[in-house]
Amino acid sequence: MYKNILAAVDGSELSAKAARHGAELAAKLGARLTIFHVVPPLPSFDNMSPSHVGNIHQDIVNEFLKQGREILRQTEEKLAGLGLDISTSITLGHPAEEICKKVEAGQYDLLVMGSRGLGQIKGYLMGSVSNRVCRHAKCPVLIVR
Ligand SMILES: Nc1ncnc2c1ncn2[C@@H]1O[C@H](COP(=O)(O)OP(=O)(O)OP(=O)(O)O)[C@@H](O)[C@H]1O
Ligand SMILES: [Mg+2]
Repeated sequence: MYKNILAAVDGSELSAKAARHGAELAAKLGARLTIFHVVPPLPSFDNMSPSHVGNIHQDIVNEFLKQGREILRQTEEKLAGLGLDISTSITLGHPAEEICKKVEAGQYDLLVMGSRGLGQIKGYLMGSVSNRVCRHAKCPVLIVR
């Protein structure tokens, strides 16, 4: 049924659980799995001089990219035993928007994600990313909680 599954991970336990769920499904169905991470935009530093901000901004972005690659590497490593065809992908941007764009660009037929992520404000069933994505994604969305 599903041939091309996308798992969105932010480093949270729930997203790891979602990725495992997607991986087990992919293994059963003989589907491909891509694990995807988005590095969100940094706040602007409008009140600082551009010469200062240039370097600091790039250094912080590089650090987040490094962290993101590490999240992807660890997730992939944990799923290695399933004998799957796994790819990883990382990009910069607004997570919900980038996840929806990725679904279309890669012609994924299933997206798996956690109901919540790393956000500190609990109490709602869904976070802002899962909320937006499940309303806008162009493929079925499996929300793991
Ligand atoms: N930066 C990201 N890259 C990839 N996937 C993400 C990212 N952020 C969230 N997700 C996916 O969305 C799921 C839900 O996370 P979400 O961010 O909506 O909840 P939250 O962090 O608890 O709340 P909020 O971010 O609104 O404070 C995560 O489990 C993960 O699957
Ligand atoms: Mg979040």
